[in-house]
Amino acid sequence: MNKSFAHLFLEGSKYQNMGKTDQQLGTPAPPLETPCDGKRIALPSPPSDMGRQALVEVVHQRRSVRRYADRPLTTQELSYLLDMTQGVQTQSERHTLRTVPSAGARHAFDTYLFIRSIEGLSPGLYRYIALEHALVFINHNDALFNRLEQACLGQKMVSRAAVTFVWVADMHRMAYRYGERGMRYLHLDAGHACQNLYLAAETIATGTCAVAAFDDDAMNALLDLNVATHFAIYVAPVGKKA
Ligand SMILES: Cc1cc2nc3c(=O)[nH]c(=O)nc-3n(C[C@H](O)[C@H](O)[C@H](O)COP(=O)(O)O)c2cc1C
Repeated sequence: MNKSFAHLFLEGSKYQNMGKTDQQLGTPAPPLETPCDGKRIALPSPPSDMGRQALVEVVHQRRSVRRYADRPLTTQELSYLLDMTQGVQTQSERHTLRTVPSAGARHAFDTYLFIRSIEGLSPGLYRYIALEHALVFINHNDALFNRLEQACLGQKMVSRAAVTFVWVADMHRMAYRYGERGMRYLHLDAGHACQNLYLAAETIATGTCAVAAFDDDAMNALLDLNVATHFAIYVAPVGKKA
């Protein structure tokens, strides 16, 4: 019987079938996040009591939320959600430690935000610069949210949310240490980030829904990614609960 693509991938990414990784070969390490030019927009610190709720309550209350109230989030709330999903706690030359775990502390994601309704920020596509806890405005045009919805196979929640998160995987940042096996770890890491978003959103009367049903080519094109190295891995719209 022919082996499926999935079987071939699982076989090829077993430790015993891998060659030497770039790290083992001593090649220079990639940067801790994908470089991004552009004016930094500082994010405010959230109030210290934001999100204080018993974990057991939050875990039990969490549901996927696909309909949102037509109310904006504040920049403090956005700042809080970004901190909870990718916030950098310590940084050295080689790695960062963040609010989520990551295989080998590679933290190989860049976070993109389709902002529709955040107080104080004009609508458009932004990138979160985790190392500076700041945003960079990338672009906006009338078709942006339509294209986002189409890229998500017509799922309206992504264009009706106050903000839609898109985590973009940097293959080399992960493969540097783990080779082909790193592809497995990227997908595991994405789950951690999104779960933290679910839980953090819940504590501020806000909801999210994981979205993996999207057209890869359309999403990567919308984000203008270099697909030789980067791809959109996971999407999550966020809005106030209706
Ligand atoms: C990997 C993954 C992909 C998902 N993709 C979508 C999606 O594209 N669209 C959607 O409406 N829900 C999506 N969901 C949400 C699930 O449908 C949801 O978690 C499930 O129905 C259980 O409901 P609950 O999260 O409220 O417990 C996804 C969830 C996961 C974990």
